[in-house]
Amino acid sequence: MAQVSDLGIDLGTSNVLIYQKGKGIVLRQPAVVAIERISKKVLAVGTEAHRMIGRTPGNVLALRPLRQGVVSDFELTNTMLRHFMSMVIGKRFFGRPRVVLSVPSGVNEAEKNSLISILFDAGAKRTQLLDRPIAAAMGVGMDFQKPYGCMVVDMGAGVTDIAVLASGQVIEAASVCYGGDYFDDAIIRYLRKKHNLLIGERSAEEVKITLGTAVPPISPLTDEVTGRDLLSGLPKTITVSSSEIYEAVKDAVADLIESIQGVIERTPPQLASDIFEDGIVLTGGAASLSGLPEAIYNELHIPCGVADDPQTSVVLGCGRALDNLNAYKNVLSDSRRLR
Ligand SMILES: Nc1ncnc2c1ncn2[C@@H]1O[C@H](COP(=O)(O)OP(=O)(O)O)[C@@H](O)[C@H]1O
Ligand SMILES: [Mg+2]
Repeated sequence: MAQVSDLGIDLGTSNVLIYQKGKGIVLRQPAVVAIERISKKVLAVGTEAHRMIGRTPGNVLALRPLRQGVVSDFELTNTMLRHFMSMVIGKRFFGRPRVVLSVPSGVNEAEKNSLISILFDAGAKRTQLLDRPIAAAMGVGMDFQKPYGCMVVDMGAGVTDIAVLASGQVIEAASVCYGGDYFDDAIIRYLRKKHNLLIGERSAEEVKITLGTAVPPISPLTDEVTGRDLLSGLPKTITVSSSEIYEAVKDAVADLIESIQGVIERTPPQLASDIFEDGIVLTGGAASLSGLPEAIYNELHIPCGVADDPQTSVVLGCGRALDNLNAYKNVLSDSRRLR
């Protein structure tokens, strides 16, 4: 039996990723739990539960326990985290791993402490918390310990974290709801209003991924979308174009850009000018929306780029912290040893 190695965990509002020291990313699963409506019995967790969203019989609920960044159902978050931990640790190891954990902004102190207890019960020796924007910056290799301003925008499903970092600290930040779910909702509203078509969350997300764009498309793409016709009540399939989906999401994109601008305006001028020079890095799954860096550049005149595989930036940052616990002592929260 081998000693279990240390873990970095990105507990997101839509996905949970786990990095294992020496191995890399070992788990990437939707943050979804399926339960039986009446008995509350847990039926499935992760990928299997995600398949049930929008297509479950009346007695099954597929829930995202961290929706909108708040731990809306703490018991379910427990169940889910324990399940994922056991998938990674398994039974072939001995010892207890150290954990660096990044939780959505908006999780309160009491909830953070409960998460640390849950991890302890699930086998962790010691859990240290890493601020989400700092984890994202570390994951893309930003040198935020210098006295030089840098900006990272981590766009998750429920929450987008906007932060200016310098000298190893968060200088100015905002946490807003303008993330992937916000774009999905905008698409749902648009199709309902324009085509009398009601579509579910999963279809909206698919449309966003295939046709979504934050800038007017030069050569528009089209795709079919199926939903329920609000006039006849029957299923209906229509063809939509990326120009329409641009119309659908453009106000949501504008909300995001306005929040980024607000953070820059509150940043001390010297650090703000560093950002104008070096640009903004986008991380998180929702940063994959096509044209987002161009839209930001067009509005703010700041260069902007998306991380490679942006969904993994936060967990890679947790991993980097694990690999150099001493060097990053200043950004890891006070470790708590429970019991
Ligand atoms: N190619 C894509 N284009 C646009 N949005 C995407 C794409 N891929 C994933 N997303 C969105 O990214 C979000 C999930 O990102 P993630 O970082 O995993 O969220 P969280 O950190 O909140 O768990 C979802 O809203 C999803 O629809
Ligand atoms: Mg994320």
